[in-house]
Amino acid sequence: MKTISAAITALGSYVPDYVLTNKILETMVDTNDEWITTRTGIKERRILKDKGKGTSYLAIKAAENLLSKHNINPKEIDMIIMATATPDMPVASTGVFVATEIGATNAFAYDLGAACSSFLYGMSTAARYIESGRYKKVLLIGADKMSSIIDYEDRATCIIFGDGAGAVLFEPNDEGMGVQDELLRSDGTGRQFLKIEAGGSILPASHETVANKQHYVFQEGKTVFKFAVSNMADSCEQIMKRNNLTEKDVDWLVPHQANKRIIDATASRMNLDDKKVMINIHKYGNTTSATLPLCLVDYEKQLRKGDNLIFASFGGGFTWGAVYLKWAYGETKINS
Ligand code: UT7
Repeated sequence: MKTISAAITALGSYVPDYVLTNKILETMVDTNDEWITTRTGIKERRILKDKGKGTSYLAIKAAENLLSKHNINPKEIDMIIMATATPDMPVASTGVFVATEIGATNAFAYDLGAACSSFLYGMSTAARYIESGRYKKVLLIGADKMSSIIDYEDRATCIIFGDGAGAVLFEPNDEGMGVQDELLRSDGTGRQFLKIEAGGSILPASHETVANKQHYVFQEGKTVFKFAVSNMADSCEQIMKRNNLTEKDVDWLVPHQANKRIIDATASRMNLDDKKVMINIHKYGNTTSATLPLCLVDYEKQLRKGDNLIFASFGGGFTWGAVYLKWAYGETKINS
């Protein structure tokens, strides 16, 4: 019997129309385009402005984009994993609502939260469900409305984040394509450096927490930066080593888009040429759970069947890791 692996077979995405440029941010906080560009690589990000629309709106749009592009009947979907750090509400899963809205009436759904690593961890979860042989179509959606948890008076965080969504379909593959290996890690000592203090069970919402701005993202940027650089680079190096991959074998690095300098440091440790590194941070900023699928969508036309992709992320918690996947469609890669 052939082994079943979990391959990505379809992609979809959505970003809101409103573009928040560095120039506009200059009018909101004490910052400038030059600082933002050199320190982060970000030029602009998308923001969902419409009142009453949450992360589910972005996720539904991305999922519908995938379904319509590939003419897939939503009733065929077995499960939906909703990777997000900004669910519509604290209780009542966003994924469940998304499943119903897109007509995935035969699916079960739930949310998966691991900050900026939510999508990466979701790849692991989706792969296990497919590999079990029980589920044939698993939809993994990464979506975040980061603008809902950002203080637009805090220049240290408001310049970084944006809103967006990406959807990826996993299906069984018997040609050896799809997820090959993964290296996932977490460390709870990191939670003090990147968090939203209030609104959870330790510090429920009150007039005081609102007045103190404790419902917004707090980040000690420098510390997170250091951990992100060393851990993302380490995970990539290790996963290459244990799969006997040299820089020549790796066709693409798909890195979390938090800071161009973190991405460059990771690529440099892998000895990878810039041309093999997916980058779209300049136009979307850090969309948290959506960065990896948004990269795939932007580079989809360049991907060939058999390409070796290394996905990597680092996020709050701390959470981080790398996933090694063989791309399953497009022109066939000719080995040189
Ligand atoms: O995705 C989840 C994981 N998150 C990350 O991976 C993010 C990791 N961290 C970072 O990307 C970077 O630390 C930041 C982009 C957040 C900050 O860059 P940095 O190079 O670490 O800057 P810094 O916080 O050390 O600040 C350097 C200086 C400070 O001024 P002084 O103290 O040197 O006078 C800041 O006050 O830059 C100042 N600064 C700014 N200046 C202009 C901080 N934010 C800004 C700003 N515009 N927006």
